[in-house]
Amino acid sequence: MQKLFIKTYGCQMNVYDSERIADTLSPMGFTLTENPDDADLAILNTCHIREKAEQKMYSDLGRLRDRRDERRQENEDMIIAVGGCVAQAEGAEIMRQAPYVDIVFGPQAYHRLPEMVARAKRAKDAKEGKIGRGVGVVDTDFPIESKFDTLPQTEVSRAAAFLTIQEGCDKFCTYCVVPYTRGAEFSRPVADVIEEAKHLARLGAKEITLLGQNVNAYHGLPPVGHSEWGLGRLIREIAEVEGIERIRYTTSHPSDMDQDLIDAHRDVPQLMPYLHLPVQAGSNRVLEAMNRKHTRESYLEILEKLRQARPDIALSSDFIVGFPGESEKDFEQTLDLVRQVRYAQAYSFKYSIRPGTPAGLMELQLPEDVKSDRLQQLQAVLNEHQLAFNQASVGKVMKVLMERKGRYDGQLTGRTPYMQSITIEGNERLLGQIVDVVIDSGHANGVRGSVRLVS
Ligand code: SAH
Ligand code: SF4
Ligand code: F3S
Repeated sequence: MQKLFIKTYGCQMNVYDSERIADTLSPMGFTLTENPDDADLAILNTCHIREKAEQKMYSDLGRLRDRRDERRQENEDMIIAVGGCVAQAEGAEIMRQAPYVDIVFGPQAYHRLPEMVARAKRAKDAKEGKIGRGVGVVDTDFPIESKFDTLPQTEVSRAAAFLTIQEGCDKFCTYCVVPYTRGAEFSRPVADVIEEAKHLARLGAKEITLLGQNVNAYHGLPPVGHSEWGLGRLIREIAEVEGIERIRYTTSHPSDMDQDLIDAHRDVPQLMPYLHLPVQAGSNRVLEAMNRKHTRESYLEILEKLRQARPDIALSSDFIVGFPGESEKDFEQTLDLVRQVRYAQAYSFKYSIRPGTPAGLMELQLPEDVKSDRLQQLQAVLNEHQLAFNQASVGKVMKVLMERKGRYDGQLTGRTPYMQSITIEGNERLLGQIVDVVIDSGHANGVRGSVRLVS
């Protein structure tokens, strides 16, 4: 048996992709290992969204090279491969900066990985003895055929599973690399999605998270007829799949939040009362410079409609502070919007220049200390709201899907319907079950609870 090590960075789509990469390579005799020292094939599935993610990849690559050198002293070898969004955006640069890498493949090419691995192996055998250089197999094309058509179905069972239904993005926010790394927006046909949902349910999934860079832009070919289905309609259909008790989707764009999808939050009990709907900034001036295609007002209006449809919905967002030209007044408007919405969770970042994006060329790039200062201010408010939300849950009974063992013996963790992470003391046989839990305490990053006993 050969050992495969995969390290995943970035978004949930990369997590999904990594699982499928493992599925694709398993017929070649690769089994997963957690330990890179053992790996015959090591893959970094990379993210290019911010500069830090990219730097991390290069330092991890250096470490892999050292391990490979050690293995070679024992007459073993290691194929080093880089996949994902850095590979797509900077394949040639990786080969220059890290010439010891053997394979570079983009996010649209992983179904061709077995072939690339076979080629790398042959090339390695032929070049035996040349220390320090990789064999240079590169595939970063956007192929005509879809990777989804040629992939084997997963056999990994998970109570909370991911299902990618859409890829790519046509929005071109001026700061973002995704439209360049993932390519044009593409939706999988409804029938394929339903088939995969049924398959996941048979493997034991109780919750499915539908994934896409712009998941609510979904417009899939229908099972019959010609008029495409939106996400609302698809969710209603997935709710009919036996065994699927909880549905989530991420990530959404405000301008694709149509009425049918909002109505689904009212009509479909399996659809969880939580939505990650990134706003990025609270000032219309900044939103326009970001090319977000929504305003502060139109965003708040959507939230209002969502709350009408599902009054208990918990909201989450992404924020970027220190976008080029963001004034103190602009930033105040972000704080103001946050105070108005009171998010249950949020992710916030300092603006980071991405090569090749329009915002990277804008004048008035802000100094690092201004960005850091604003990020701190914003996070203070977001954290306060998150803690308040978690504390307000105390005393409630919630249905929790127990997903994995906790850090300490006897602990289990999962997510509440509102996406709070929750830890309970409980028996392992509750894993994979949906359990009634009483919330005992609320904390900065989640809640603690105990199994409600039948009285
Ligand atoms: N498709 C999703 C996710 C995009 S990436 C969406 O549209 O929301 C996740 C988050 O990373 C973004 O929402 C944004 O907040 C952040 N991000 C993207 N590019 C960035 C950049 N250049 N600098 C800082 N944060 C960035
Ligand atoms: Fe990037 Fe904007 Fe597309 Fe999201 S919507 S992936 S932030 S370009
Ligand atoms: Fe990162 Fe690519 Fe996802 S850039 S956030 S891994 S789409």
